[in-house]
Amino acid sequence: MLGEYGEIDKYGVIGYPISHSRSPVIHRLFALQTGHPIQYDLYKVAPFELATCIRMYQTQGIKGLNVTVPHKSKVAELVDHLSDRAAKAGAVNTLVIKHDEIYGDNTDGSGLVQDLVHNLQLHVKGCNILILGAGGATRGILHPLLGLQPARIMIANRTIEKAQALVEAAPEGAAVAAVAACRFDDVPTDRPWHLVINATSAGLKGQAPPYPAAAINSETICYDLSYGLTPTPFSLWAHEHGAGKSVMGWGMLVEQAADSFEIWRGVRPNTASVLKQLKISAT
Ligand code: ATR
Repeated sequence: MLGEYGEIDKYGVIGYPISHSRSPVIHRLFALQTGHPIQYDLYKVAPFELATCIRMYQTQGIKGLNVTVPHKSKVAELVDHLSDRAAKAGAVNTLVIKHDEIYGDNTDGSGLVQDLVHNLQLHVKGCNILILGAGGATRGILHPLLGLQPARIMIANRTIEKAQALVEAAPEGAAVAAVAACRFDDVPTDRPWHLVINATSAGLKGQAPPYPAAAINSETICYDLSYGLTPTPFSLWAHEHGAGKSVMGWGMLVEQAADSFEIWRGVRPNTASVLKQLKISAT
């Protein structure tokens, strides 16, 4: 279980800022559960030092890193190899570091899919999905969501051009959903939106944009990719406007971490117990 020279394998997460990250807690719980005695640390890396730091960690023998805000897109340009899903997302959240090469993958989308399908038991096939926001987070989840065969996906964004660019890059063909773009105040309400996903970064900045209230009703599940110790602004908004259910992204957080752990260690931890422990420790 130990590394080549008997030392504990080192992993971590790079971001800026980074002190808020829950990844060390999650990976320590995974390590305990699986009997893989890994070390997992926080690395605060400013954008200007990103490339230098990654190569330095490589020479120090760090085996893998998670990548978080604001580095996910930039890291995709720095690695030697990209997985297919990371290439489609144009973003990396998991690095596998070998002495001669660095491989970039992205488990954000698969983490969301695991949470929706297995933890929340949602039947996404045939659903109408509204995604709010058209930044890096939306790019990461769009293809994995299309793989669940919803009937349609609407991307609503403050800046319509960014939503349109994502639609243009989406795959075409009879097997996939209709994907379209609109502004927040143009969200069609002729059919119900079964799942509304907040992928904006507004809440992180303490902002509350005019989310489209007419898009939700008691049948709608609102999912915020953000999470917090207290309800996020979006989940409060969803409750206030009568959503059937409002969920924060804790499940996605743990599931994407489990997928990263599996890439590194070859074993996927049980996520249910970790999610429970994390939520208890967060309250
Ligand atoms: P990226 O993820 O590409 O770094 P970002 O600046 O963090 O981008 O923004 C992510 C998303 O949140 C974008 O869709 C952004 O909308 P714009 O494309 O119009 O900038 C959205 N967003 C951030 N703050 C917002 C706000 N106050 N109101 C509405 N949307 C907001």
